[in-house]
Amino acid sequence: MKENPVILGIESSCDETSAAVIRGRQLLSNVIFSSAAEQAKYGGVVPEIASRAHTEAVDEAVNQAVAEAGVDLRDIDAVAVTYGAGLLGALLVGLSFAKSLAYALKVPLIAVNHIRGHLSAAYLTDGALKPPYVTLLASGGHTAVIHVKAFTGFEVLCSTTDDAVGEAFDKVARILGLPYPGGPNVQRLAESGSASIKFPSPLIRGSAFSYSGLKTAVINYCHNAEQKGGEVKREDVAASFQKTAIDPLIKKTVDSAAALGVDTVTVGGGVAANDYLRTRLQSECNKAGLRLILPEKRYCTDNAAMIAAEGLVQYREGNFADMTLNACAQIPLK
Ligand code: KG4
Ligand code: ZN
Repeated sequence: MKENPVILGIESSCDETSAAVIRGRQLLSNVIFSSAAEQAKYGGVVPEIASRAHTEAVDEAVNQAVAEAGVDLRDIDAVAVTYGAGLLGALLVGLSFAKSLAYALKVPLIAVNHIRGHLSAAYLTDGALKPPYVTLLASGGHTAVIHVKAFTGFEVLCSTTDDAVGEAFDKVARILGLPYPGGPNVQRLAESGSASIKFPSPLIRGSAFSYSGLKTAVINYCHNAEQKGGEVKREDVAASFQKTAIDPLIKKTVDSAAALGVDTVTVGGGVAANDYLRTRLQSECNKAGLRLILPEKRYCTDNAAMIAAEGLVQYREGNFADMTLNACAQIPLK
């Protein structure tokens, strides 16, 4: 096994087709094609459109990633691919492509859990980062504060009992008549609003998150205001929702790190691309004397660089897959 292998990562779990190349923890390329514009016509991700778009884009994404990395296909030491969680048909496109490539190149295949990929994006931001640290995972499918005790050892300290925070952003976007993808559009609208409306906190009893109540409160607020013939200030709803959704995530993350005596915090997942979250988390970490590793926005939303980074973790563990590897719609973090 090499100290710093060249790993090709492939990601196709939702509407991004992405390929990336790393050498050790050095990122050499990260190519992303998205079917989001096509999906926007339908107000959300249509699985069959996603699968078809991956089929058309995967070859080009890999070719570009290899070319931009300045390597040859023969330099690749392993192929890492997302096998779950995600849309089955979408996953199967990247997975089948990765299997064929690993087979043809006679290199190991590495099965990557998408959620762990989000956590591993931080390893590319700070090449020296190592556990223990506390991470905030905030995506369209997951919301959790996690104690990363070892490269492959996790303890979930607090997670959602129902909707994920990204899902709540997407649903509130719909209520406010904003197009897909919802999260960035809610953020944009919130920038011109004031967080003056009181919504219920998603942190229940200090030990779990619940976003479905917050979403319902936003729906009720808008309906009540409409029924009374009053004006709904959409930007204030967006700003109030955003603050209510995000502040408890930050508090729980910072408090957990302090309680565990851990000095480093990281963040991952699409909602970690939110500017309000990024600014607030940075300032709260500064206040608490914690070091924050904040991946660039493009490594928070879905990308193959993070899949290659998690592939490296698995490579160093000697954890390889075989040709029977299948796609899984749901997989736990562990
Ligand atoms: O990690 P991700 O790209 O895919 C999943 O693995 O789920 O996360 C997608 C989620 C979506 O719910 C999207 O609305 C949200 O991340 N998101 C944002 C922002 N950018 C993406 N939410 C709030 N503010 C953003 N700027
Ligand atoms: Zn994701």
